[in-house]
Amino acid sequence: MPFSRSRTIYSFAAVLALSSVSRGTPTTTTTTITRHVSSIAPRTPSSPLPAADFSVPITASAPRSKAKKSLLRALRESQAAQAGSNFTTVLAGSDFDEEYLTNVKFGEQDFMLIVDTGSSDTWAPQVGYACFNLDNKPVAQSQCAFGSAGFNSSASTTFTVDPGTNFNIEYADGEFLSGTVGFETVTVGGLAVKQQEIGVVDKAAWDGDGFNSGLIGFASPNLTFVFNGTNPDDDDTQIPYNPFFYSAVQQGLVSHPFLSVALDRGSFAAENSSDLDQNLGFISFGGIAPVGVISSTAVTVPIQGYDAATFTPKNGSTGVTYFYYSVDVELMSFTGNHEIFGTTNTDIILDSGTTLDYVPTDVADAFAAAFDPPAVKDDDFGVYTVVCTATVPEFTVTIGGVTFTVDPADNLFPLGIQDDDGNELCASGTFDGGPSTGAEGNVFILGDTFLHNVVATFNIETDEITLTQRAPYTSGSSDVKRRAPSSVRRRSV
Ligand SMILES: *[C@@H]1O[C@H](CO)[C@@H](O)[C@H](O)[C@H]1NC(C)=O
Ligand SMILES: *[C@@H]1O[C@H](CO)[C@@H](O)[C@H](O)[C@H]1NC(C)=O
Ligand SMILES: *[C@@H]1O[C@H](CO)[C@@H](O)[C@H](O)[C@H]1NC(C)=O
Ligand SMILES: *[C@@H]1O[C@H](CO)[C@@H](O)[C@H](O)[C@H]1NC(C)=O
Ligand SMILES: *[C@@H]1O[C@H](CO)[C@@H](O)[C@H](O)[C@H]1NC(C)=O
Ligand SMILES: *[C@@H]1O[C@H](CO)[C@@H](O)[C@H](O)[C@H]1NC(C)=O
Repeated sequence: MPFSRSRTIYSFAAVLALSSVSRGTPTTTTTTITRHVSSIAPRTPSSPLPAADFSVPITASAPRSKAKKSLLRALRESQAAQAGSNFTTVLAGSDFDEEYLTNVKFGEQDFMLIVDTGSSDTWAPQVGYACFNLDNKPVAQSQCAFGSAGFNSSASTTFTVDPGTNFNIEYADGEFLSGTVGFETVTVGGLAVKQQEIGVVDKAAWDGDGFNSGLIGFASPNLTFVFNGTNPDDDDTQIPYNPFFYSAVQQGLVSHPFLSVALDRGSFAAENSSDLDQNLGFISFGGIAPVGVISSTAVTVPIQGYDAATFTPKNGSTGVTYFYYSVDVELMSFTGNHEIFGTTNTDIILDSGTTLDYVPTDVADAFAAAFDPPAVKDDDFGVYTVVCTATVPEFTVTIGGVTFTVDPADNLFPLGIQDDDGNELCASGTFDGGPSTGAEGNVFILGDTFLHNVVATFNIETDEITLTQRAPYTSGSSDVKRRAPSSVRRRSV
């Protein structure tokens, strides 16, 4: 394998080089990072975006995903290695993590799959799959903790195998999956794509949550992991294919090439229960997701591509390869201490598969310091912790000249533990993504913290993203503020 992968595949971005960097004094001035500027100008989206042809509610699992924690830990470890710092454990003790799932049919068989805008393959385990631990030792199937027995391809009349190929993906946290490749009718929210290429996993090392039975990826064809030949140990030639929504567009099933995601923040009560929360937003095909928006706060910007040879960002719309839904962020700012930090033309990945926002160190530190009381970086947890009663400044992100606001509720993430005085502890939803200096660059991500506040609509034909500010909603914030801190269950770390 030429590169390691994580559930969201960071490895390409991890080698991004910064073209030049200049920065001011961290606590008082504007930080400027120069990377690249797209040659396509941002514009106001044609208004309004069409309503979607197909919409499906997103279901979030209970916040028990070891996989997500491992993923975040892997990300932190890779960044710690780059930054020379020590953030080896992330969100340990936090059972309030979220994973966005949706119902998907392979033929007539139903599964819940993780919705991931940061990777591209769609897969489920085959019934009878072999489960392995991360050291590649066989273990009981239950240890993979899938939400079902798996896909029985022989019971599906619409399934055909793709001979001579194999599916083989390895995540940076050590999870890995391999198996056969086939074509199947895949249905999501009433949108039925025929002959969709899928991975059918017969060997899985997976840190499941007991609900998901795999993953549906929505990023570029260039991030797919099907290989020529049937031996996963001998995979040299990647054979890119169209992921689910690309196939839907190719088959003319939607009236517009729009994939739209609206992720709701969960309520604290739902996060604190072990049940599924059935109502945590939408993924929509063919138009904008059906949630309330502030349509005057919207912008359409190009997806940032890469030079495939060097995996560095490349300007313009020709000669580039698209991997992620990356955008240029111009500015991040927050109220409270009146400092403004600019990160000019920084590539940031919009990723539904990542819980927190990972921003440059200067921004993260100063933002944490502006909480009242200040949030404190906790190396054991790999987050900034603060009492849940803290006052949180409003964080904003400017993209294409339009400023999007992050609800303060998204920057108080309940950890389910208490400090020595018995106060409930929360984490900031914004974390240190590493310094913005250095030849190696760093991976910056706008994860669920940001995505709870916008509708992100991807146009896969023009390779553009329209971001629209959501109308305020209350599912999480009011619960977080209303709850009596002493009623929070203490969870083991
Ligand atoms: C990208 O475009 C900007 C502005 O047009 C230019 O300053 C920069 O040098 C370009 N970068 C690359 C890598 O071509
Ligand atoms: C990282 O932190 C842990 C606990 O805070 C400590 O035990 C460990 O020695 C540290 N490692 C390094 C490389 O600093
Ligand atoms: C899979 O389906 C086939 C055909 O219907 C059936 O014979 C077989 O028992 C099923 N396997 C499992 C494990 O359910
Ligand atoms: C796959 O491998 C076979 C056998 O080596 C070869 O004939 C074929 O051209 C390869 N296909 C691709 C797409 O590389
Ligand atoms: C969290 O769950 C525990 C156990 O079910 C319960 O005792 C507690 O009241 C819940 N807390 C909140 C805020 O819902
Ligand atoms: C995938 O990458 C190839 C070059 O490696 C490029 O020609 C193609 O346009 C890319 N596809 C997408 C969807 O970006």
